[in-house]
Amino acid sequence: MKFSATSMFHSLRFRLIASVVTIEVIMLSLLVWNNISIIHTTHTDRLRDTADSMIQQIANTSGGYMVAVDYASLEDYLANIMEYRELEYLAVMDRSREVVIALGSAPASAWPEADAHPKQVKDGIYDTAREIRVAGQPMGRIQMGFSLALMEEAIHESRVRGVSIAAAEIFLTVLVTVLIGLGLTRRLAMLSAAAQEVERGNYTVSVPTESEDEIGKMAAAFNRMVTEISKRTRQREEAETKTGKLLAENRQLIQTSLTVQEEERRHLARELHDELGQCITAIQADAESIRDLSSGEDERIVTRSGAILDVSARIYEVVHSMMQRLRPGILDDLGLVEALRDEISAWQERHQDIECSFNVSGVPARAGERINITIYRIVQECLTNIAKYAKASHVIIDLAEQEGRLQLAIADDGRGMDLSGPRSGLGLIGMRERVEALGGEISLQAAEGQGLTVRIAVPLDRDDMEHA
Ligand SMILES: Nc1ncnc2c1ncn2[C@@H]1O[C@H](COP(=O)(O)OP(=O)(O)OP(=O)(O)O)[C@@H](O)[C@H]1O
Ligand SMILES: [Mg+2]
Repeated sequence: MKFSATSMFHSLRFRLIASVVTIEVIMLSLLVWNNISIIHTTHTDRLRDTADSMIQQIANTSGGYMVAVDYASLEDYLANIMEYRELEYLAVMDRSREVVIALGSAPASAWPEADAHPKQVKDGIYDTAREIRVAGQPMGRIQMGFSLALMEEAIHESRVRGVSIAAAEIFLTVLVTVLIGLGLTRRLAMLSAAAQEVERGNYTVSVPTESEDEIGKMAAAFNRMVTEISKRTRQREEAETKTGKLLAENRQLIQTSLTVQEEERRHLARELHDELGQCITAIQADAESIRDLSSGEDERIVTRSGAILDVSARIYEVVHSMMQRLRPGILDDLGLVEALRDEISAWQERHQDIECSFNVSGVPARAGERINITIYRIVQECLTNIAKYAKASHVIIDLAEQEGRLQLAIADDGRGMDLSGPRSGLGLIGMRERVEALGGEISLQAAEGQGLTVRIAVPLDRDDMEHA
């Protein structure tokens, strides 16, 4: 698995642990700091109280010894006092501030000033002093120094204990959070992985529900959802397959009917040529021989036979034109370009109010029978549609070969059409089918009032091709 810093910050597990640890550290630091300051105050107050009561008692007792000038007993008494562990030095001075007894490690030179409170001590010794009075008369002075070392050791121990307890608590909290976080995120990760599988289209996945809690309920709902999606997808796929099959059958049918139609037209053209053409020729020959037989004696016979000749010539023209539309012989004889020129100029004759231009570039003289008839029929259909619906004044037809594809574009400047609307005729559908049967593409471009352009591209069959 790829691991990046961003993905780590986004991970639910990381955020859960980080927030719990941060809160824990802040709260416990405050607690430890508060406890230490209370402990410090308690210890210093205790030392001050102890020192006060000791010095008071010593001052009282020392007064008696000093009145009796029994310094030896006073020293014994004070030596006992010196047993006290925190006491660093003890000194007794007479009325003129001369030291008469000094015990412990008293400072060598000047006697330090008395400290206001153990909290303000800077040299590690809390100095305190008191006047010795007997019956209100000053007898001297007593000065004591208490070492802060023991007190500081006790404070230090308390601090270490407090910090250790806080650290243990942080560790336990992290451990519990990690375990809960792992349990939660493991199940959420399973859900997320399953959701990704579903996104990839795999509907066979399911997640274990494990317990009845919120995640368990979510997993059960997820499983139900996947089953439902799977069912609906299957139904949709079946429907799509059915529709696809129907569509393919439909296309097959249209293409077969187009081929049959083309065959039928070719057959009809041949029949018209062979049968009707022969008959008309025979009628014309008979009319001529009737006219010749009368040798001009009967004016009526000449007129009637002349009329038969005119009508049969007219019939021949109509039949010939029908034959051309059914199967233009010119397409087989002179190729696509000439057949199109012929068709376009015949159309232009019939619609002289529309100007039609035809541009050709690089088109093979023989592009293959199927391509020829397809392009020819499409041009025919487009020109018919333009005449029927477009109300155009210009039509441009371009035929070109580009990168092995034959490209045809027929553009008019008529009223255009709405391409998204429903259509009833078969012309445009037939065009599409013919083009797609050749592996080509067709596109229509139109807007209301801006004419219609039909573009077609069909791949040329190289074997069939013969350049002019
Ligand atoms: N050049 C055009 N300009 C404007 N509208 C057009 C043009 N060509 C086609 N249409 C519109 O598209 C519709 C469908 O044309 P299509 O050729 O498919 O059918 P049709 O001509 O109505 O019938 P059929 O071709 O089957 O005889 C037409 O009815 C017409 O409204
Ligand atoms: Mg049409």
